[in-house]
Amino acid sequence: MEKLRDNFGRSFPYIRLSITDVCNFKCGYCLPNGYFKPSNAPGFLDISEINNLVDALSDLGVSKIRITGGEPTVRKDFFDIIKIIKNKKNIHNVVITTNGYKLNKIAEQIVDTKINGINISIDSLNSQTFKEVTGHDKLKQILEGIDILQSKGFTNIKINAVLLKGVNDTERDFDAWSDFINKKKIDFRYIELMQTGDNLNYFNKYHVPSKIFKDYLIKNKWNSIDRVSDAGPSINYVNPSSKGKFGIIAPYSKDFCKSCNRLRVTAKGELRLCLFGNTGVSLRPLLKDASQKKELLNLILTQLRFKKESHYLELGDTGATPHLASIGG
Ligand code: 5AD
Ligand code: SF4
Repeated sequence: MEKLRDNFGRSFPYIRLSITDVCNFKCGYCLPNGYFKPSNAPGFLDISEINNLVDALSDLGVSKIRITGGEPTVRKDFFDIIKIIKNKKNIHNVVITTNGYKLNKIAEQIVDTKINGINISIDSLNSQTFKEVTGHDKLKQILEGIDILQSKGFTNIKINAVLLKGVNDTERDFDAWSDFINKKKIDFRYIELMQTGDNLNYFNKYHVPSKIFKDYLIKNKWNSIDRVSDAGPSINYVNPSSKGKFGIIAPYSKDFCKSCNRLRVTAKGELRLCLFGNTGVSLRPLLKDASQKKELLNLILTQLRFKKESHYLELGDTGATPHLASIGG
């Protein structure tokens, strides 16, 4: 079968699949007023549509799928979806991104379902700051969940924080994370705040270049390492005295898009070629029945020819993305 490849020589072993736009958190940079269901909107892909989609993706050589949202674990059939994806031939790596709000309750199931990795968003290790950013006082439960995962031998744990000026960008914050990953084999990454359609004021107030964290890492003798082919976009740093790694995701950096290896499918079945592109096509009409697979494969392959070389974020062009809950981070 033809593999997913674009006009710039990039291949796409990695798909980010959102399974819901719904989120129970109110992160200031994403859904400051919480999630509102648009009236009369079509529902999210059901499990049979997801099955047909991932079946086609497996045929196209996709080896890694990240389940995102919104908050994916709000779906009652969350673990059933994982099981279906894990059964596909080529998809060896099924990972999830979660805000962790019920991680202490589902940690065991995550281990039992053999999920291959988890990214948890924790913007601060200070519970007051955590509450201020997300609108929820859940830090303790999340950290408990992480402890359970580790005690059951779950290894691939990553924590993401959005770097925010005056909120979590001091040397004290960096030191707190350094102590945290020093003893735990967990990778921590700062993501530079991205401008989206809805968050311009927030962006102007809180955006700070990730260079401050990079300078901290260099000063404290962390060394950058090379990426592997289906890895995420972070630049990672190691330090022999620490069990965990640090990372920086800097979408505004020059060449960020060169190593792009992922496509996105929204919770309603739209294929998005870029987080910030205006280009998207609905795969949904071809997900109704397994017999449509050939047409579906053709549509995905044709779309890939439209993938652009880069986003135009630095020009303030946020494309069709009002907030990341609508496209799955
Ligand atoms: N800029 C940067 N990161 C964001 N996230 C959500 N919105 C933004 C934004 N505007 C992050 C979340 C989570 C991941 C899925 O995306 O905090 O870590
Ligand atoms: Fe929810 Fe994630 Fe958006 Fe926060 S960033 S509101 S956790 S979807």
